Parts: sequence; C-alpha cells; structure tokens
Amino acid sequence: MQTIKDIQLQGKTVLLRVDFNIPMNKDGTIIDDSKMKAALPTIKYILDQGTRLIVMSHLGRPKGQPNPQYSMKPVAAHLQSLQENKVILAPDSVGPAVQEAVSKLQPGEILLLENLRFHGEEEKNDPQYARQLADLADVYVNDAFGTAHRAHASTAGVADYLPAYAGFLMEQEVNMLRQVLDHPEPPRMAILGGAKVADKIGLIDNLINKMDILLIAGGMGNTFLLAQGHAIGKSIHEADLVDQAAKLLQKAQERGVTILLPTDVVVAEAISPDAEAETYPVDSIPADKTIADIGPQTIKTFCEAVQKARTIIWNGPLGVYEYDQFAQGTWEVARAIAGSQAVSVIGGGDSAAAVQNLGLEKNITHISTGGGATLEFLEGRVLPGVAVVERAGALH
Ligand code: 3PG
Repeated sequence: MQTIKDIQLQGKTVLLRVDFNIPMNKDGTIIDDSKMKAALPTIKYILDQGTRLIVMSHLGRPKGQPNPQYSMKPVAAHLQSLQENKVILAPDSVGPAVQEAVSKLQPGEILLLENLRFHGEEEKNDPQYARQLADLADVYVNDAFGTAHRAHASTAGVADYLPAYAGFLMEQEVNMLRQVLDHPEPPRMAILGGAKVADKIGLIDNLINKMDILLIAGGMGNTFLLAQGHAIGKSIHEADLVDQAAKLLQKAQERGVTILLPTDVVVAEAISPDAEAETYPVDSIPADKTIADIGPQTIKTFCEAVQKARTIIWNGPLGVYEYDQFAQGTWEVARAIAGSQAVSVIGGGDSAAAVQNLGLEKNITHISTGGGATLEFLEGRVLPGVAVVERAGALH
C-alpha cells in the first residue's frame, strides 16, 4: 500500500476522501465525532507539506438529491473547531462554482466539498463524475476506511484518473485488521454478538478458518442455541438460518475450533427499560420469556477464555446493553478485553460504543472506525476503497 509518506506533496492540490458520515441529531448537533478525529492526523500531515486540500465525504443517504438535512455545513463548522487551518464549504462537489472555489484556495486551506451523495452518480461510480472530481486536484488520497466497502466514484472511480495514496487512518485500519486476521498470535479468539446471524454468516465462516475459539452470544446467539436443540422461549431468532448455524457448528468441530455459546441467560418478559431480569440455564428457558443478556456463569466462562487469548476480535454486543439490567455481559466482557494482554481489535459501532462508555478505549489495541467495512474485511472480502490504494502506482 502506498501512503502519503511515499509522495512529494509540496505545492500540490490534494483530493482527500474521508468518512465524515457521522451520527447527528436532527438539529445538526454531532453525536459522535470519532471518525472526524481519526482523520485529523492525515489532514494535518497533508497541509503541513504546503498543499491546498480538498476534502470530500458523504453524509447519510440523501438518495442522489440535494437535501439541506444532509448538508455538510455542520461538519464544516465542526472541522473548523477541531483544527486551525481555514475551512471553506463548497456549494457543491463538482461544477463551475466548485472549480472557482478551488482556483481561489490558498496553500494551508481546506475546501470541504458538499455532500457527494447529492449526486446519484457518486453511488453509481459514474466515470464522468469521478473524472470531474479528479480534475479538481493533482493527487488522490483515500482515508475513508469506513466507506471502503463501497465502490463509489469518490472511493474507487476517481483513482482511475489520479495517482492514489492511502492516508494514515486507512493504513492503520488495514494493517491492524490484517495483523489479527492473517498473523494472529495464538490463542486466537473472536467474540461475536449483535442482533442478526444473517449479517454475520460470512464473518463466522471466515473466522472459523482463522481463529481457535469463537464466543457467540447476543440476538444471533439465540439461533445457535436453537441449532443446539435448546428451547429459547419468545427470544428473537432467525428460523430460516438454524440449519446454517448447525452447519457452522459442525464446520468448527471438524476443524477443531471451539465455539462457546451461553450456558445461562438473563431473560425478561419483554425488552423494555423497566423489565425485570431473571437468570436461567439455557436448558430451562421459560416459554414466555425472551433472552436479553448472557448469565453470570457464561460471563465467567467468557472472561476466563478472554484472559487466555493473545489475539481478540470483538464485534457486536452480547445483550441489550442499552438497558442497565441487560448490560452486564457486554460490560464484563469489555472489561476483560481491556484488562487482557492480547492484541485486541474492536469492530462495529455498538461494541466500540460500549468500550467508550466505560472509558476503556485506551486499553484496546485498535478500535475500528468501520462498521460495514470492518465486517466485510473480516469476512475476507476485497474492499474496493482498499484495492485502489493497493494498486497505487499504476498511474505513475
Ligand atoms: C458508514 O457509516 O458505515 C459508512 O460511512 C458507509 O455508509 P453507507 O452504509 O451509507 O454507505
């Protein structure tokens, strides 16, 4: 992978793709700016080389139409507050007004393009739109790991017209995920939670090839409990995937990979903030209850396994951690990961949020800024946004 360290940037105009698709309230206040902060080292480095910097991102899903609700305006203001270089918001991402703004841009200044997805051509990876973006600059830098699973004009197409380099965040994300996936120190463990098995079949399948032990819980764990023959009361599950879950359990067994499922669970009559929590072993879950967390015995088993691991990948909460009475499993496992000596990588918004809520982020080796991108990477798929910076040099 060629990075911004591999090119002489001085005097150049740089087109930088970032993932500033950050969660915001309807009034434009920012809920979580971690993806913006993660791109700052790349922005600073590029500007310090004496460049003019054009920054571009999508925000939300405005469906190819300009829509003030998805304007980059609050993002521009926030970017200004995070660093000292002047930020100018462009009226669009392409066209004469943008070209004029670029012509007036001074070294050390940032021109933030308006939401790329105001043009349907962005998501269609339209070559003409990619060309218009490319024509604004001399060099293309992709630091948008969180959007690297999308083959869009700004994440992939533009690299057909400009020399492409990775930013520091892209480099760090790819290196860390490759380290835990391809060169993990044993014992290697993945902890998988979250609501749906359907989203994670490819992930589990790939991780069975790479890991020694998989801990599976959360909503998706229920489908595996069903595959093991347990009755799960009213709990959410995916009936059409029980056979698939059984096949994955079988594959793991054939390969000598241990899969740990909950042995006891916290249940309630309904998932609600004031629901009463009770604990049952998995072989006696009442028919009228729903699983909301792993139980104390499972927490103990999971935490002991975490302590032995040297490599840990975690994706997805282990219970309905938004409600205190169902958060214990997620919190305890998060604490165990933070306290372990293993190389730990957390992917996925919810597990990252859990660690951040506990103030444990400093004790984790790497918290990925990608949700979907991280999942696809861990599934072993080639991400288009990574591929373009790995074939960098083709245009030199
Ligand atoms: C994300 O937030 O996961 C990325 O920015 C990708 O957004 P998208 O799912 O709308 O393509």
